Amino acid sequence: MKRTNNYEVTSLDMQKQQEMIEAMRSMNEGAKEVKKYIIVTYGCQMNEHDSEKIAGMLQNMGYHETTDKKDADLIIYNTCCVRENAELKVYGNLGSLKNLKKKKEDMIIAVCGCMMQQPQVVEEIKKKYRHVDLVFGTHNLHKFPELLVNAKHSDNMLVEVWENEGEIIEGVPVIRKYELKTFVNIMFGCNNFCTYCIVPYTRGRERSREVQDIINEVKDLAENGTKEITLLGQNVNSYGKTLEEGITFAGLLRKLNEIEGIERIRFMTSHPKDLSEELIDVMAECKKVSPHMHLPFQAGSNKVLKAMNRSYTKESYLALVDNLKRKVPDVAITSDIIVGFPGETEADFQDTMEIVERVRFDSVFTFIYSKRQGTPAAEMKDHISDEVVHDRFNRLVRKINEICAEINRSYLNKEVEVLVEGPSKTDNERLMGRTGQSKLVNFDGDFSLIGKLVKIKITDPKTFSLNGEVVEE
Ligand code: SAH
Ligand code: SF4
Ligand code: F3S
Repeated sequence: MKRTNNYEVTSLDMQKQQEMIEAMRSMNEGAKEVKKYIIVTYGCQMNEHDSEKIAGMLQNMGYHETTDKKDADLIIYNTCCVRENAELKVYGNLGSLKNLKKKKEDMIIAVCGCMMQQPQVVEEIKKKYRHVDLVFGTHNLHKFPELLVNAKHSDNMLVEVWENEGEIIEGVPVIRKYELKTFVNIMFGCNNFCTYCIVPYTRGRERSREVQDIINEVKDLAENGTKEITLLGQNVNSYGKTLEEGITFAGLLRKLNEIEGIERIRFMTSHPKDLSEELIDVMAECKKVSPHMHLPFQAGSNKVLKAMNRSYTKESYLALVDNLKRKVPDVAITSDIIVGFPGETEADFQDTMEIVERVRFDSVFTFIYSKRQGTPAAEMKDHISDEVVHDRFNRLVRKINEICAEINRSYLNKEVEVLVEGPSKTDNERLMGRTGQSKLVNFDGDFSLIGKLVKIKITDPKTFSLNGEVVEE
């Protein structure tokens, strides 16, 4: 069944949001001191961008950002539950706020994001973290102003988590962390149900934003100085499937490529099962679409891939990569890998190593399998011992780093084009930027270069970054 976005619901919801924002703003403007907030974000870019929306709503409500917890009137944890350690960090940090809350009783503590979509987590918070004032989920983010107003007037913890996703809500205000390069949601949710993954349960079913809404947002960004956009979705290659106008992800990229002022278009994440020939062609043709493909393969063994419900094989993945490299010769390929999925044998792990050696990834996020309650893999037999998993993990990371260093060494004396982002993280008197392939480059240069595309000659490649100098034209 096709589904379109329902604007009637959207505009009503937005009206309510606006009323609540204004009510809070007039309250804050009348207060003796400025109200301050901190948002602590865990997890992926989707969560980072959600936090930018929360910040947008808060600043419209008259709140100012602070970096000091003791100074904050409102602390929000935007949580992730993709792996157990992400959850443990949240519980630890929430616990440590207990004393602060005792000293500052009118401080509001809110928790939101993916963790809250799990009923057992909400129960735990109700039981053990009573100093929390507000709990909400991923599907009712736009209702945050109303929830905050209600939480302020309530003596009890206010919990509102929607089990199911509603329509896409357009027009939520956003405060973007960086104006030069920024995120744009193109779709929400996921229908893939990889057997290890909690995301389909926390983010709901897949739904795409209307093309025109995306174009309007990107044009607006370009007019305000944005040079690079990263299109976000759990599976961008299936963009458009829920829309009536019959557009593909490749078609969307072609349209965005026309927008004046935008220099680079990135996207993540691509699922190998949906990566079309058309998308590869668009990457080869469209100048602004960066030659970088993040293409998680998770595991090399066909047996493990099947148990993960990934719908491709080692052979089809390698063929896809060959095709990509043939049509886009300067492409950088990056990936995600999980080590220690239930039932993974040493021979299965060797299949993962083989893909790493054959593809030669520019970088890889490596994860140790983490059992997630409610997913099919949690019920599978043959969970792998910590010792075996760590040994495999270390061998894998060593191999990946060796290859990364080799690839980076091949950049010596080459010229690359870098979008200059700002001061370097390691030395704030130098500059940093990224190539189209997403390689981090540090160099000396005038700060007036920030925001420009600049040619850099690589003089000193490292394993995870490149050092270079500006090529005088
Ligand atoms: N939608 C994206 C990424 C989602 S989560 C995709 O499909 O590629 C990001 C990464 O976390 C995944 O690619 C996977 O490698 C990892 N991951 C997800 N669930 C995990 C789990 N239970 N244990 C370990 N790693 C996991
Ligand atoms: Fe999770 Fe798979 Fe969906 Fe990615 S595609 S979010 S790994 S279920
Ligand atoms: Fe992202 Fe974590 Fe949710 S990876 S989608 S924030 S579970």
